[in-house]
Amino acid sequence: MTLYSTAIIKQFDWQSKTTIETTAMACMFHDIGKTLLPKDLATLRPQDMNPEQLAMYNKHPELGIQVVDSCRTINNSVKQIILQHHESYDGKGFPFGRKGNKILTLANIVCLADDFVHIMIDDKLQPIEALRKILVDKERVKRYNSILIEKFINVFVDPEKIRKETHLPGNSRMVNQKKVS
Ligand SMILES: [Fe+2]
Repeated sequence: MTLYSTAIIKQFDWQSKTTIETTAMACMFHDIGKTLLPKDLATLRPQDMNPEQLAMYNKHPELGIQVVDSCRTINNSVKQIILQHHESYDGKGFPFGRKGNKILTLANIVCLADDFVHIMIDDKLQPIEALRKILVDKERVKRYNSILIEKFINVFVDPEKIRKETHLPGNSRMVNQKKVS
Protein backbone atom coordinates (compact mmCIF):
# COMPACT_ATOMS: atom_id res chain seq x y z
CA MET A 1 0.00 0.00 0.00
CA THR A 2 2.76 2.41 0.91
CA LEU A 3 4.60 1.70 -2.33
CA TYR A 4 1.58 2.38 -4.56
CA SER A 5 0.34 5.34 -2.49
CA THR A 6 3.79 6.91 -2.70
CA ALA A 7 3.98 6.36 -6.45
CA ILE A 8 0.70 8.26 -6.84
CA ILE A 9 1.64 11.10 -4.47
CA LYS A 10 5.03 11.60 -6.14
CA GLN A 11 3.30 12.76 -9.32
CA PHE A 12 1.64 15.77 -7.67
CA ASP A 13 3.26 19.20 -7.39
CA TRP A 14 2.16 19.41 -3.75
CA GLN A 15 4.03 16.25 -2.77
CA SER A 16 6.54 16.57 0.05
CA LYS A 17 8.50 14.44 2.47
CA THR A 18 5.79 15.14 5.04
CA THR A 19 2.92 13.95 2.84
CA ILE A 20 4.82 10.77 1.99
CA GLU A 21 5.67 10.07 5.64
CA THR A 22 2.13 10.87 6.78
CA THR A 23 0.65 8.51 4.21
CA ALA A 24 3.18 5.76 4.96
CA MET A 25 2.27 5.96 8.64
CA ALA A 26 -1.45 5.87 7.80
CA CYS A 27 -0.92 2.82 5.56
CA MET A 28 0.74 1.06 8.45
CA PHE A 29 -2.08 1.75 10.93
CA HIS A 30 -5.16 2.17 8.70
CA ASP A 31 -6.86 -1.04 9.90
CA ILE A 32 -5.72 -1.00 13.51
CA GLY A 33 -9.35 -0.49 14.57
CA LYS A 34 -10.03 -4.07 13.50
CA THR A 35 -8.17 -5.20 16.62
CA LEU A 36 -11.22 -4.06 18.62
CA LEU A 37 -13.70 -6.02 16.50
CA PRO A 38 -15.02 -9.46 17.55
CA LYS A 39 -12.56 -12.22 16.59
CA ASP A 40 -15.04 -14.03 14.32
CA LEU A 41 -15.12 -11.02 11.98
CA ALA A 42 -11.39 -11.28 11.27
CA THR A 43 -11.77 -14.20 8.91
CA LEU A 44 -14.80 -12.84 7.03
CA ARG A 45 -14.74 -10.61 3.96
CA PRO A 46 -17.22 -7.68 4.09
CA GLN A 47 -19.23 -9.18 1.21
CA ASP A 48 -19.73 -12.37 3.27
CA MET A 49 -20.94 -10.58 6.43
CA ASN A 50 -24.56 -10.32 7.57
CA PRO A 51 -25.96 -6.78 8.12
CA GLU A 52 -25.15 -6.82 11.83
CA GLN A 53 -21.56 -7.92 11.26
CA LEU A 54 -21.15 -5.38 8.47
CA ALA A 55 -22.36 -2.56 10.73
CA MET A 56 -19.69 -3.55 13.27
CA TYR A 57 -17.01 -3.85 10.58
CA ASN A 58 -17.88 -0.39 9.27
CA LYS A 59 -16.91 1.08 12.62
CA HIS A 60 -13.26 0.04 12.32
CA PRO A 61 -12.03 3.42 11.02
CA GLU A 62 -13.49 5.18 14.08
CA LEU A 63 -12.22 2.43 16.38
CA GLY A 64 -8.80 2.97 14.83
CA ILE A 65 -8.82 6.56 16.02
CA GLN A 66 -9.60 5.34 19.53
CA VAL A 67 -6.66 2.93 19.44
CA VAL A 68 -4.11 5.53 18.32
CA ASP A 69 -5.61 8.45 20.23
CA SER A 70 -3.10 8.43 23.06
CA CYS A 71 -0.12 7.80 20.76
CA ARG A 72 1.79 11.07 20.38
CA THR A 73 3.83 9.91 17.39
CA ILE A 74 0.65 9.60 15.31
CA ASN A 75 -0.40 13.11 14.37
CA ASN A 76 -3.84 14.39 13.41
CA SER A 77 -3.22 14.10 9.65
CA VAL A 78 -2.49 10.39 10.03
CA LYS A 79 -5.59 10.00 12.21
CA GLN A 80 -7.77 11.68 9.60
CA ILE A 81 -6.52 9.30 6.89
CA ILE A 82 -7.22 6.32 9.16
CA LEU A 83 -10.70 7.73 9.78
CA GLN A 84 -11.44 8.36 6.08
CA HIS A 85 -9.75 5.40 4.39
CA HIS A 86 -13.10 3.82 3.48
CA GLU A 87 -14.83 7.02 2.37
CA SER A 88 -15.77 6.87 -1.27
CA TYR A 89 -15.65 9.69 -3.84
CA ASP A 90 -19.27 8.97 -4.82
CA GLY A 91 -20.44 9.32 -1.20
CA LYS A 92 -21.19 5.61 -0.74
CA GLY A 93 -18.34 4.89 1.66
CA PHE A 94 -18.19 4.77 5.44
CA PRO A 95 -18.20 5.80 8.27
CA PHE A 96 -19.58 9.22 7.25
CA GLY A 97 -20.52 8.91 3.58
CA ARG A 98 -18.41 11.94 2.71
CA LYS A 99 -18.39 12.84 -0.97
CA GLY A 100 -15.95 14.32 -3.51
CA ASN A 101 -13.55 16.93 -2.18
CA LYS A 102 -14.98 16.54 1.33
CA ILE A 103 -12.66 13.52 1.51
CA LEU A 104 -8.95 14.07 2.10
CA THR A 105 -7.00 13.36 -1.09
CA LEU A 106 -4.43 11.34 0.88
CA ALA A 107 -7.26 9.24 2.33
CA ASN A 108 -8.68 8.59 -1.15
CA ILE A 109 -5.18 7.59 -2.31
CA VAL A 110 -4.88 5.13 0.60
CA CYS A 111 -8.38 3.82 -0.23
CA LEU A 112 -7.33 3.15 -3.84
CA ALA A 113 -4.05 1.51 -2.83
CA ASP A 114 -5.84 -0.59 -0.19
CA ASP A 115 -8.48 -1.82 -2.65
CA PHE A 116 -5.80 -2.51 -5.26
CA VAL A 117 -3.70 -4.62 -2.87
CA HIS A 118 -6.79 -6.53 -1.70
CA ILE A 119 -7.71 -7.36 -5.31
CA MET A 120 -4.18 -8.64 -5.96
CA ILE A 121 -4.22 -10.84 -2.85
CA ASP A 122 -7.85 -12.04 -2.91
CA ASP A 123 -7.96 -12.77 -6.65
CA LYS A 124 -4.28 -13.76 -6.94
CA LEU A 125 -3.73 -11.22 -9.72
CA GLN A 126 -0.64 -9.51 -11.05
CA PRO A 127 -0.58 -5.72 -10.51
CA ILE A 128 -1.54 -4.89 -14.10
CA GLU A 129 -4.45 -7.36 -13.93
CA ALA A 130 -5.65 -5.82 -10.67
CA LEU A 131 -5.50 -2.36 -12.25
CA ARG A 132 -7.55 -3.62 -15.20
CA LYS A 133 -10.12 -5.06 -12.82
CA ILE A 134 -10.55 -1.66 -11.17
CA LEU A 135 -10.79 0.21 -14.47
CA VAL A 136 -13.46 -2.02 -16.03
CA ASP A 137 -15.68 -1.93 -12.93
CA LYS A 138 -17.85 1.15 -13.43
CA GLU A 139 -19.11 1.18 -9.83
CA ARG A 140 -15.71 0.62 -8.26
CA VAL A 141 -13.98 3.30 -10.26
CA LYS A 142 -16.43 5.91 -8.91
CA ARG A 143 -14.92 5.40 -5.47
CA TYR A 144 -11.85 7.43 -6.38
CA ASN A 145 -11.16 10.92 -7.66
CA SER A 146 -10.56 10.48 -11.41
CA ILE A 147 -7.27 12.41 -11.11
CA LEU A 148 -6.01 9.65 -8.82
CA ILE A 149 -6.99 7.01 -11.34
CA GLU A 150 -5.06 8.91 -14.01
CA LYS A 151 -1.98 9.10 -11.75
CA PHE A 152 -2.32 5.44 -10.86
CA ILE A 153 -2.36 4.43 -14.53
CA ASN A 154 0.85 6.46 -14.95
CA VAL A 155 2.50 4.23 -12.35
CA PHE A 156 2.20 1.40 -14.87
CA VAL A 157 2.77 3.44 -18.03
CA ASP A 158 6.01 5.04 -16.88
CA PRO A 159 7.19 3.23 -13.72
CA GLU A 160 10.86 4.03 -14.32
CA LYS A 161 10.27 7.77 -14.12
CA ILE A 162 8.29 7.42 -10.89
CA ARG A 163 10.83 4.99 -9.43
CA LYS A 164 13.62 7.52 -9.94
CA GLU A 165 11.55 10.33 -8.42
CA THR A 166 10.54 8.13 -5.48
CA HIS A 167 14.18 7.83 -4.47
CA LEU A 168 14.44 11.59 -4.05
CA PRO A 169 13.86 12.71 -0.48
CA GLY A 170 11.45 15.55 -1.16
CA ASN A 171 10.00 18.11 -3.53
CA SER A 172 12.32 20.96 -2.57
CA ARG A 173 15.40 18.82 -3.23
CA MET A 174 14.06 17.90 -6.68
CA VAL A 175 13.58 21.57 -7.61
CA ASN A 176 17.10 22.44 -6.44
CA GLN A 177 18.65 19.65 -8.47
CA LYS A 178 16.84 20.77 -11.59
CA LYS A 179 18.07 24.33 -11.08
CA VAL A 180 21.68 23.19 -10.74
CA SER A 181 21.58 21.16 -13.95
FE1 LIG B 1 -10.06 -0.72 6.47
